[in-house]
Amino acid sequence: MPETVRGVIARRTGAPVELVDVVIPDPGPHDVVVRVQSCGVCHTDLHYREGGINDDFPFLLGHEAAGIVETVGESVTHVTVGDFVILNWRAICGECRACRRGRPWYCFDTSNAGKSMTLTDGTELTPALGVGAFADKTLVHERQCTKVDPAADPAVAGLLGCGVMAGIGAATNTGNVSRGDSVAVIGCGGVGDAVIAGARLAGAATIIAVDRDSRKLAWAKQFGATHEIDASTEDVVERIQELTGGFGADVVIDAVGRPETWKQAFYGRDLAGTVVLVGVPTPEMTLDMPLIDLFSRGGALKSSWYGDCLPERDFPILIDLYRQGRLPLENFVTERISLDEVEKAFDAMHHGDVLRSVVVW
Ligand SMILES: NC(=O)c1ccc[n+]([C@@H]2O[C@H](COP(=O)([O-])OP(=O)(O)OC[C@H]3O[C@@H](n4cnc5c(N)ncnc54)[C@H](O)[C@@H]3O)[C@@H](O)[C@H]2O)c1
Ligand SMILES: [Zn+2]
Ligand SMILES: [Zn+2]
Repeated sequence: MPETVRGVIARRTGAPVELVDVVIPDPGPHDVVVRVQSCGVCHTDLHYREGGINDDFPFLLGHEAAGIVETVGESVTHVTVGDFVILNWRAICGECRACRRGRPWYCFDTSNAGKSMTLTDGTELTPALGVGAFADKTLVHERQCTKVDPAADPAVAGLLGCGVMAGIGAATNTGNVSRGDSVAVIGCGGVGDAVIAGARLAGAATIIAVDRDSRKLAWAKQFGATHEIDASTEDVVERIQELTGGFGADVVIDAVGRPETWKQAFYGRDLAGTVVLVGVPTPEMTLDMPLIDLFSRGGALKSSWYGDCLPERDFPILIDLYRQGRLPLENFVTERISLDEVEKAFDAMHHGDVLRSVVVW
């Protein structure tokens, strides 16, 4: 029987979010209903609310979640009722041109639930990143569920579902940060601090945190930053060069996603180094720079979608490292809130008061 639960939606551009009744249909083939236990508030949810991702309002927000599989549809073999899972937005297909060429982390045909969640009047909701987990329950494809050690705190584990995985993977998978590298990270929110944690795991020797908010720089140290640059008062490119023997960092990761921060990443990088864009720009942003600079500085200019992760490979490893005390994932959880406090959490994010507010049930 379809079920009515509470969910947080964004109805139109810029309007405050609303807590409303959401209808969860019975799961179809390969779909499962997950009882959500935690869901972090990511900047991407705010991008959705502001119309910065697309126009498919109303959105059912929330996508950094963990929970328990409650009901499974026909032909589900990947998980069973009662499994503790982290939800992901990369359920790889195995068949598309990226998967066939052995690059499944780019999968161009990821799976989502076959049926739609709706408002009580039948209006179809667009789940943020195909997840929609600011809700008591959500409907997802079975492969959007990755089973992990149930001893992990859901509020912490769920963060791997998006921002923390994107950050760690931007360093370790996309940026290929290696032992002894120098790394600079521009923007030290949840994603940027995860880049820092990932760079430390990979053995980077110098990890430079850049933010314009001094509180963020203090938090960045907890994750492994060895140096800090205050972008509100210092010249970011010059300071990165000073801290890296005059050359620039081997890998610079832009976790803000604006033309000016990307340019800082580009010019703050050593010759033949790597720039990784993990922050998400909005459609009106453009870049204007001398093409000769792209040629003469060489190296790699990359984007990181979801940290180029494979949920089935990466989530269980990272949960194990966290459980062993080698990855301080718990430090990302600044506050635990209830489902009716998402709008307040956007304010806190906007004012830089939090790394992550996490809705817990
Ligand atoms: N690529 C992906 O797969 C992926 C996944 C999750 C989130 N994201 C994106 O990553 C970005 C960061 O997300 P978040 O949740 O960490 O956001 P956040 O708001 O928590 O953090 C952004 C940080 O950047 C800092 N900042 C802003 N402008 C700056 C500037 N000009 N110079 C230096 N610092 C600046 C802020 O002070 C803040 O600390 C967002 O654009 C989000 O949409 C991308
Ligand atoms: Zn694929
Ligand atoms: Zn996210």
